[in-house]
Amino acid sequence: MNILLLGSGGREHAFAWKISQSPRCTKLFIAPGNAGTARCGENVSISATDFAAIEKFVTENDIHLVAVGPEDPLVKGIYDYFIARPHLSSIPVIGPSQKGAMLEGSKDFAKQFMKKYHIPTAAYRTFDAANLPEGLRFIDEQTPPIVLKADGLAAGKGVLICATREEAKDALRDMIENAKFGSAGARVVIEQFLKGIEFSVFVLTDGKSYAILPTAKDYKRIGEGDTGLNTGGMGCISPVPFADAAIMRRVEDRIVRPTISGLQQEGIVYKGFLYIGLMNVAGDPYVIEYNCRMGDPETEVVFPRIKNDLVELLLAVAHEQIGSITLQTDERATATVIVASGGYPGDYAKGKVIHGLEHLALRSDTIVFHAGTKDENHHIVTNGGRVLAVTSYGKSIQEAVARSNEAIAHIHFEGMYYRRDIGYEFR
Ligand code: AMP
Ligand code: GLY
Repeated sequence: MNILLLGSGGREHAFAWKISQSPRCTKLFIAPGNAGTARCGENVSISATDFAAIEKFVTENDIHLVAVGPEDPLVKGIYDYFIARPHLSSIPVIGPSQKGAMLEGSKDFAKQFMKKYHIPTAAYRTFDAANLPEGLRFIDEQTPPIVLKADGLAAGKGVLICATREEAKDALRDMIENAKFGSAGARVVIEQFLKGIEFSVFVLTDGKSYAILPTAKDYKRIGEGDTGLNTGGMGCISPVPFADAAIMRRVEDRIVRPTISGLQQEGIVYKGFLYIGLMNVAGDPYVIEYNCRMGDPETEVVFPRIKNDLVELLLAVAHEQIGSITLQTDERATATVIVASGGYPGDYAKGKVIHGLEHLALRSDTIVFHAGTKDENHHIVTNGGRVLAVTSYGKSIQEAVARSNEAIAHIHFEGMYYRRDIGYEFR
């Protein structure tokens, strides 16, 4: 079968790497892809949110399945776009409906959903221009730190953790009155600060049943020791050592099952990946956020630990048979270390030639996933803030991280930066 994958980051290279290993995949296309996905299939220069161009491509190239990497096409309703058109409606899109994607697209929607279905999450209230004065008074009643979240998609920047009430009030005014995050911040969720350790759980669901994928923990800050600005993620490990059987049972009973049955009760179609960001508060898991897709760089550690054929898993989602699948996972740990452009997450240069990748091509326990790269004049050059995700296997997290760090020593481009301390708390 012919498959179209949407997206262009490290996550999509990991999808493409896994899909291209499947005997069921005849031809894989990636729109728009990067220099790494080009080695797993054929890149097509179509934006992941250009539905009309995707429609034309799918029709002309006999595509049988569409897998969606990033949230944008899902939040914009690609699932519904296909369902609404008779010539597309039989082609499965792996990802939730537009309503389902609101679990990520609107923090307020996600909080209301969790409240209704008694899913553990931080206590909250939502404010907008109509009740801003009430919001300011509400802040006065809180004990800092105070967490403010722009309701809509804000490219991972919409969450502010304010150390004082004054800071929180300024931030609330900035979002609502001065449109700090554009329309995404016109409504703001203010919630209780949860103290604990974060980790992530990934669910692949057909809307009725589900499979829980390996856990992961990402490292969001730019600097070693978790310092400096937030990024999309500078590294990741799997499995999460403290997410033992007892915690995972609580996650399944209190969060995964009520979420899937809540979606059903709401009549929301959800056939795809659900990323649940959790806070482990003294052994009790709380939902920090839902994402309607896999994570990046989480995919780069989770997929290498899944032994099943990914195309079979995606087809099981399409055919509502995920309940009959047994997930087989690799016992080894994985770690990925992001190699970034100097300056990221602020301004950074593009077009720098990446040297040394050929030294890593034949390693059996290291995989170099491309995040922001492109082919230019027979060279692979940088094309984003996060450039590569270097994933390794190991008997332990420590061994996997050491392997990735050693591999990165063979790579060079001007201004490259990476964190050497991924997984530091598990050493
Ligand atoms: P999000 O964009 O929702 O993932 O939030 C970004 C980061 O803010 C999370 O990864 C957490 O580190 C932190 N965060 C969000 N909500 C809370 C909360 N209620 N309590 C403590 N930290 C939080
Ligand atoms: N690494 C965080 C995310 O994909 O949302």
